[in-house]
Amino acid sequence: MAIVTGTPPTAGETDGSTPISALRDLALASAAPAALRAAIQVGIADALGDAPTPVGALATSLGVNPEVLGRLLLNLRSYGVFAETPDGIVHTPVSRLLREDNPQSLRYWVLWVTEQWVWELWPDLEQAVRTGRGHFEERYGTGFFAHLHSTSRESTEIFNRSQTELSRLTSAAIAQALDLSDVKTFADVGGGRGYTLATLLDANPHLHGTLVDLPAAVAQPDPRLRPDGSLASRSSVMAGNCLEKIPVDVDVYQFKSILEWDDDLTVTALKNAAAAGHPGSRILMITNLVDDSPEIRYATGIDLLFLLNTNGRRHTKKGVTELVRRAGLQLDGVTPVGSLLHVVETTVTG
Ligand SMILES: C[S@@+](CC[C@H](N)C(=O)[O-])C[C@H]1O[C@@H](n2cnc3c(N)ncnc32)[C@H](O)[C@@H]1O
Repeated sequence: MAIVTGTPPTAGETDGSTPISALRDLALASAAPAALRAAIQVGIADALGDAPTPVGALATSLGVNPEVLGRLLLNLRSYGVFAETPDGIVHTPVSRLLREDNPQSLRYWVLWVTEQWVWELWPDLEQAVRTGRGHFEERYGTGFFAHLHSTSRESTEIFNRSQTELSRLTSAAIAQALDLSDVKTFADVGGGRGYTLATLLDANPHLHGTLVDLPAAVAQPDPRLRPDGSLASRSSVMAGNCLEKIPVDVDVYQFKSILEWDDDLTVTALKNAAAAGHPGSRILMITNLVDDSPEIRYATGIDLLFLLNTNGRRHTKKGVTELVRRAGLQLDGVTPVGSLLHVVETTVTG
């Protein structure tokens, strides 16, 4: 009998599943984000406390159908979201992240990536593969941020909260990594509601910071940046469009998780920062580079979503370097910050 050796395991064989079961699981994986969204919307994670709770009692407290709730939980439990004990359903570390009161909550981020009009972009992937670009404007008649801010206040709120959730996970590492000791003035451009800016100002008591973002984002800034907030005397909040003009001349401009849209827009925003600043001003891009990402499914999934929503991308180190060159900036370095982000440091020359 011939013995076949040296055949590498294929996808699905390494974790004990067969290729057939792996492919079936993958093709139906959209049940999972749908189940996560439904779980958040009916409030399972917030209703479930520390005590095990039978599905029936949980259904009664939520006012939902007990049989379908059980089926929903069965799917989620297969991914480690909630668990079952003899006494009822309990939280897992993953399901706790759906609770609104968890400091590491990703509740609004999950709602954001499963928002109906965002979800409806996925079928456009085939067309994007054929044409090499996203087709958001053809579908929705306007650009991504204009649509976000006009389609519904609820969507805008979910998006802004989701960005604050992500910032809560990374701001401490950014504050630790950035040496701002010789910097007097700082602007966070596209800084959302200003959670990261406020964290940087708290960590650098000598620093003055300006939050610049579109009107819908700065309408409700972080409480610390408001007129009665703890950082009011060292901060300003400005509505501004970085694709037109950046309204402040500062020592350091930060763009965090914003320059991942169309490459031409990124170059425009960087040039506008250089025009607003002065020779020696530094421009920092803080971004999740896709090369060697430790969370490759997250990085590549977001990369495809960016393609569909802003004709954007997750950058590679080489790609980001090219954008800096196109903007006429001096590249000073690319350094990891925390486990997922990189800071691309540049300087405005002459
Ligand atoms: C992905 S969010 C990142 C927010 C924040 N920097 C963070 O990391 O949490 C992108 C931000 O860019 C802002 N933005 C989009 N277009 C902009 C523009 N033309 N000018 C200024 N800000 C813009 C959005 O309102 C949003 O707050």
